[in-house]
Amino acid sequence: MHIPSLIEKKRDGRELSTEEIEFLISAYADGEIPDYQMSAWAMAVFFRGMTARETQELTGAMMRSGWVLQYPKDSPPKIDKHSTGGVGDKVSLVLAPLLACDKVWVPMISGRGLGITGGTLDKLESIPGFNVNLDDRRAVAQLESIGVFIIGQSADLCPADKKLYALRDVTGTVSSQPLIVASIMSKKLAESLDRLVLDVKFGSGAFMKTRAEAKKLAAAMTAVGKRMGVKISHLLTPMDEPLGRTVGNALEVAECVEVLHGRGPQDVTNLVLEAINRAPIVHPFFAPLSGTVRKMDAEIIGRASVLLGAGRQRANDAIDFAVGLSQIKKIGEYVKAHEPLLFVHARSDHTLAAVLPLLESAIVIE
Ligand code: URA
Repeated sequence: MHIPSLIEKKRDGRELSTEEIEFLISAYADGEIPDYQMSAWAMAVFFRGMTARETQELTGAMMRSGWVLQYPKDSPPKIDKHSTGGVGDKVSLVLAPLLACDKVWVPMISGRGLGITGGTLDKLESIPGFNVNLDDRRAVAQLESIGVFIIGQSADLCPADKKLYALRDVTGTVSSQPLIVASIMSKKLAESLDRLVLDVKFGSGAFMKTRAEAKKLAAAMTAVGKRMGVKISHLLTPMDEPLGRTVGNALEVAECVEVLHGRGPQDVTNLVLEAINRAPIVHPFFAPLSGTVRKMDAEIIGRASVLLGAGRQRANDAIDFAVGLSQIKKIGEYVKAHEPLLFVHARSDHTLAAVLPLLESAIVIE
């Protein structure tokens, strides 16, 4: 097939056939389509969208680009949750081990940071030695021993999503509904799940800015999943301020450890932070006046964390696990003048200076 013609077809708002979608995805996963052509196609999808049939077929093609997990006969029900992405969204790190305490298996295929939102895999890799690359045999063996794995897309598991996800992250094509649906559902369907809960975020720190958009996204994902026999429920959750009090990879892991310990003792958190990564600069960001926090804009906080190095600006950028923001005040909290609103964890004076004006614009106190 002639790739430029497929890009032009989508650019002009026409519907791609089953064969064209299948070809695009398998050829891209096999390295036969270069990133620059796939970027152009993703941008065409961003502007032109896809029909329900195209989205369904894109999801199937992406799922089939790698293995679909198989389990031993009579194994426990397989369940999972997936978030559409938000700033400070660390729920998987707490929820997956909690679910695994019950008689279920949690086979979680996750992603890296995407746009201003952090990724579960990057967070886990801030723990020295953590391996998010298990093959299918080791992944199932881990389910048999502890009931849970959290792994990434790989050359064998959802390879098309692995490549397209990294490309979307740096080409301004993340917040396209069909691309989000296919990315999430191809991973979840490759897990061969019985049940799935979708956490669909909306607000400044999410890809869907309004509740109405989030509702449409939830309906599209549910339709795709139902046709493949997975029972799906969803939550629509606001994301106007960061979730929890930390943003940044190692900082969020430490917060999750605290949560799993029932908001446990400070020394456990300190110990985890000491073992994990520590930024050389920890800078308090003071309240300019006394009053109630009215705004803690999740999108701007997310952008600040990417600028600090917690996310990627180019596809090959390395993540700085140590940087981010901690002890973030919540909307509705009262603060005194000169009390810290949050702490910035930075690698250099230069990056610290770059984020301070952003933070000033993110916060309103009245
Ligand atoms: N999570 C994913 O796995 N993919 C997306 O596109 C967005 C959130």
